Amino acid sequence: MSCLPSSRPRCEERGWSGTQRCGRAKAGTYPGYTYSEANRDSGLVWTPEELDKYLTSPQTVVPHTKMIYPGLKDEKKRKNVIAYLEQFGPDGEKKH
Ligand code: HEM
Repeated sequence: MSCLPSSRPRCEERGWSGTQRCGRAKAGTYPGYTYSEANRDSGLVWTPEELDKYLTSPQTVVPHTKMIYPGLKDEKKRKNVIAYLEQFGPDGEKKH
């Protein structure tokens, strides 16, 4: 799996699925994934507002995170990603 920064979001390529993180889950709690201490201890809860800040610049919101992604600077694209993720519940299934 490649993991190069790109302006095009590729969340779905992530094995543990970014989609499951937008159900207001607490950061660093997805079972079976080894997070960085920075992420695990961030105390963040993934509300749409937090996710918007995070996606703008992950390393600013969570210094030393191992999510090496420079951020999605285009506000409209961020809103679209978040709206997409919000369609899914914590189980990864579509809500309706
Ligand atoms: C727009 C697309 C993306 C979204 C919406 C996204 C979202 C997230 C979120 C919400 C987390 C925190 C997960 C949690 O606390 O359970 C996370 C972590 C992570 N993401 Fe992304 N991500 C994206 C793109 C990427 C890309 C392209 C990569 C790889 C180049 C990546 C690599 C990682 C890694 C390694 C972590 C774990 C961070 C840590 O433990 O410090 N992500 N991502």
